[in-house]
Amino acid sequence: MTSELGRLIARRIALTGPISIADFMSEALGHPRLGYYRRAMPLGATPLGAEGDFTTAPEISQMFGELLGAWLAERWLAMGRPAPVRLVELGPGRGTLMADALRATRGVPGFHAALDLHLVETSAPLRATQRAALAGFTPTWHERFDDVPAGPLLLVANEFFDALPVRQFHRTAEGWRERMVGLGPDGTLRLALAPGLTPFASALPDAAPGAEAEFSEAGRALAGAIGARLRQDGGWALIVDYGYDSSALGSSLQAVRGHRGADILDRPGETDLSAHVDFAALAAATGMPAFGPVGQGDFLRRLGAADRARSLKRQASPEQARAIDAALARLITPDQMGTLFRVLAVGDDRSAQPAGFSDTPSDAT
Ligand SMILES: C[S@@+](CC[C@H](N)C(=O)[O-])C[C@H]1O[C@@H](n2cnc3c(N)ncnc32)[C@H](O)[C@@H]1O
Repeated sequence: MTSELGRLIARRIALTGPISIADFMSEALGHPRLGYYRRAMPLGATPLGAEGDFTTAPEISQMFGELLGAWLAERWLAMGRPAPVRLVELGPGRGTLMADALRATRGVPGFHAALDLHLVETSAPLRATQRAALAGFTPTWHERFDDVPAGPLLLVANEFFDALPVRQFHRTAEGWRERMVGLGPDGTLRLALAPGLTPFASALPDAAPGAEAEFSEAGRALAGAIGARLRQDGGWALIVDYGYDSSALGSSLQAVRGHRGADILDRPGETDLSAHVDFAALAAATGMPAFGPVGQGDFLRRLGAADRARSLKRQASPEQARAIDAALARLITPDQMGTLFRVLAVGDDRSAQPAGFSDTPSDAT
């Protein structure tokens, strides 16, 4: 049994022919009424967290948002305290990261007075959850990053780029062909290779027959727009996601429903789809100086995650202290989120090395 959106996509394919995996992903996640991140949900219910389909770092521990908040405030100081500064989050989920970041930076003189908060979020139910999490602040919501007004920028995106559509390719003996979503004889969604060679071949690496490749035009275009803004108005962007440091072959698109793997064509709109982020391609697309990517574990450790855990445990019960230790381990150990999750910073000033990217203290002046 497929979903209502699955039937709509099948009807579209029957009328106009097979669609790319990127088009399928755009529909499955972003269809205005039935898309995974757009559909109506009961108040307070979201795809994130124990009750939903997946859990993210800010939902694991307040330490994550607090440490990222401190990083952003330090960058604001390094920028010369511009006011106003556009503090932008892409895909804020439940608003937890931003709420923790703002709470942790209350004491930075002048920072909150300078902040102009912008959230890029397509999901109406998640916007409502974010509004509640950020009571006391006055964010402006946008559908797209391009709608954020000009001005010095501090941007953060955690697990956002992995949700942007990717194309997939398969190397045949003749060359690269794109993987498409078409229909099987029974009218259900089915993967198949396009009959001809892809015009995207020049953007793909040389590889032996049988190889798979993926790339995200949407991710590169957004990174380019962020880079252009940083070049024009100054500022920093911090991108955290799972992915790889240098462009690699392979296919990583995955489907998750109820914390379990699913078939990518299964129940579109009710299943999360995401792909690993190609950080080398993102960094190159910004056209700006980039720092990292480094592992999330190293990054958080260098920002003082262990000290923050110790200070939280001072006011904690033994049971809470165990939970704080477990959350820290989940965020930083290599076999959990510490290595797979990568952190990339992009900024407008090469002389000021941002915190978290090296064990040696910055020699910035
Ligand atoms: C995987 S969740 C991550 C949430 C949050 N950053 C966190 O770490 O908990 C992806 C977020 O991006 C939003 N989103 C997904 N695709 C989007 C798009 N194309 N434009 C704007 N927001 C989008 C989702 O609604 C959600 O808030």
